[in-house]
Amino acid sequence: MKKTVKKAIIPAAGLGTRFLPATKAMPKEMLPIVDKPTIQYIVEEAVASGIEDIIIVTGKGKRAIEDHFDNAFELEQNLLKRGKLDLLEKVQFSSNIANIHYIRQKEPKGLGHAVWSARKFIEDEPFAVLLGDDIVQADTPCLRQLMNEHEKTQASIIGVQQVHEDETERYGIIDPITQNGRLYQVRNFVEKPESGTAPSRLAIMGRYILTPQIFMFLDEQQIGTGGEIQLTDAIQKLNEIQRVFAYDFDGKRYDVGDQLGFIQTTLEFALQDESLSSSLLAFMDRLIVNKRV
Ligand code: G1P
Repeated sequence: MKKTVKKAIIPAAGLGTRFLPATKAMPKEMLPIVDKPTIQYIVEEAVASGIEDIIIVTGKGKRAIEDHFDNAFELEQNLLKRGKLDLLEKVQFSSNIANIHYIRQKEPKGLGHAVWSARKFIEDEPFAVLLGDDIVQADTPCLRQLMNEHEKTQASIIGVQQVHEDETERYGIIDPITQNGRLYQVRNFVEKPESGTAPSRLAIMGRYILTPQIFMFLDEQQIGTGGEIQLTDAIQKLNEIQRVFAYDFDGKRYDVGDQLGFIQTTLEFALQDESLSSSLLAFMDRLIVNKRV
């Protein structure tokens, strides 16, 4: 019988240094885009893709994430009493959205180590990984697109999209061999190649379907780029023993992992919200006119 993907890992143990001091006492995953914390967008994508169980890899100072996906009895009673039923629905939605489990990464040793920390939860099944710095809006949820390819191939599928030449050093980059529609066979996966050395402009975008054999390589705990245990290095080793494909997914990807991307995402999402868009546009028009004079 074909195995289908039911579990997902969301690493959320990063220090959020790009947003200090905001993230001194608050997880970066709780920073809101309009009215929802970024991590909820990721959880919603996983659930919309058919994932049933999610494990969030947390670390020191990340308690607010657990509270967010938990019941909030007093708040709920208060909203109920005041007849604020639309808000009550929003508050309850985030506590009922999925089976969410937590594990703590004891040391910040990198993405590969965070995924490895969740190995006991995965057992011998293919699974998904979603990174919180990338939010994707798409007609078919990004992860679902990768799951569809996995169901056809039974192989690991890594989500990629084109980036500008001068951005390749910020990402894992693939060296493609052949292309079949949006699906690529890959010779090499390289983590953050030095400027000017990238084998392509196809960058890994924080969505992965991986077979459990990845843990054989994560077990080695090999240190890579930036002195961290890199998931990309383990993926390349996996690629040497079984097929690992890259899939150029359809959809718009928002980088909420740095300040400019975060502000741009906030603006675009606010403009998509009918209750905010016209006032925000008018405000932006005024701002731009004032900047020009
Ligand atoms: C991580 C991965 C990298 C990927 C990127 C996508 O890097 O290691 O391969 O391209 O996420 O956002 P990070 O941004 O955590 O340094």
